[in-house]
Amino acid sequence: MSHKRVAILISGGGSNMMSLVDSMVGDHPARACLVLSNDAAAGGLKKAADRGLPTAVVDHRPFKGDRAAFEVELAKPLLDAEPDIVCLAGFMRVLTGGFVSQFQGRMLNIHPSLLPKYKGLHTHARAIEAGDAEHGCTVHEVTAALDDGPILGQARLGIEPDDTPDTLAARVLVWEHKLYPAVLRRYAEGNRSPVLLP
Ligand code: GAR
Repeated sequence: MSHKRVAILISGGGSNMMSLVDSMVGDHPARACLVLSNDAAAGGLKKAADRGLPTAVVDHRPFKGDRAAFEVELAKPLLDAEPDIVCLAGFMRVLTGGFVSQFQGRMLNIHPSLLPKYKGLHTHARAIEAGDAEHGCTVHEVTAALDDGPILGQARLGIEPDDTPDTLAARVLVWEHKLYPAVLRRYAEGNRSPVLLP
């Protein structure tokens, strides 16, 4: 059996990326083929390289907000890696519909809220501010609309009275590391029914 090839896009520490990489062992139907970042300083790049994974960087800054021009360059190493599945894992650039359409039906994202609540940034602060009892994270298929697309899994947890955005983010992250690998495995097996945790 040949493994499905998974490219992972990151912008930061890459803890979700590492949870995916670490899950793709043994009888898992997929393996990581590339870790790609828009920032050469992303801590996850070194972690990936230390695992012997191919890495690449396409810095968005020289493109000065020209998303389409940035994406032309971003697509090159990504297409070269011939991924079957593309996982956004803390990738903090908004992608255009044109880019997304090249990977339609095979691109996933993890977002730190219970979508459709709190698309975009500052999700933990917004959930606390709203007085929500629950918060969590979502893995969804990526479509042209930001933080939209079919939901493939969610993990939920309670918000405590003394939670700050930082304490809440840290607890959500623990669930992200369980949810994303669980969804990826199911997805790589061709099963798109949602994973609901805990
Ligand atoms: C994660 O919490 C992820 O859900 C979030 O960024 C963090 C990246 O951490 N993603 C977004 O906010 C996407 N809009 P990591 O680099 O340690 O995986």
